[in-house]
Amino acid sequence: MQVRAYTEADESAVIALWDECGLIAPQNSPLRDIQRKLQVGRDLFLVGVSDGGIVATVMGGYEGHRGWINYLAVKPSERRKGIGQALMKAVEQRIHEKGCPKINLQIRSKNSEVIAFYKAVVYLKDDVVSLGKRLEYDS
Ligand SMILES: CC(C)(COP(=O)(O)OP(=O)(O)OC[C@H]1O[C@@H](n2cnc3c(N)ncnc32)[C@H](O)[C@@H]1OP(=O)(O)O)[C@@H](O)C(=O)NCCC(=O)NCCS
Repeated sequence: MQVRAYTEADESAVIALWDECGLIAPQNSPLRDIQRKLQVGRDLFLVGVSDGGIVATVMGGYEGHRGWINYLAVKPSERRKGIGQALMKAVEQRIHEKGCPKINLQIRSKNSEVIAFYKAVVYLKDDVVSLGKRLEYDS
């Protein structure tokens, strides 16, 4: 698998992958999420390519204090081959190179398989409550 930064030509393949992976939530437009990401730290939006097709994505971020991970997705037929782990390593390296000391991420508490994945790549549970305030509605 080759890891490279997202380009505009990847848009439809990436949205199809997120749909296949169940990552599209009604409150978030994937297109608007991509457009916003292209305005801020687009070099941390990575895709994994194998045999000419996109098999994985990760949308990393760094706002000067913490790194963030969103939209980690591996095509269902390509799972348990180490692709998720390889993509996390690639995005972690790029975030660290920007001077970031710690990465945070949020997972739905019922998503036990993904929690197992993140434990395997050494993410520890923080003793925090996750709060959010929506500033804009996509739909
Ligand atoms: C989470 C996800 C990215 C993992 O990708 P992957 O390429 O299959 O992961 P890897 O092959 O690198 O797995 C590394 C290790 O994580 C653990 N792991 C991965 N998937 C797991 C699962 N479903 N159940 C339990 N442990 C799992 C294992 O320890 C695995 O090592 P092993 O295969 O040698 O046992 C993938 O399942 C996915 O895309 N899920 C749906 C999208 C999603 O919910 N993303 C998270 C948004 S926050």
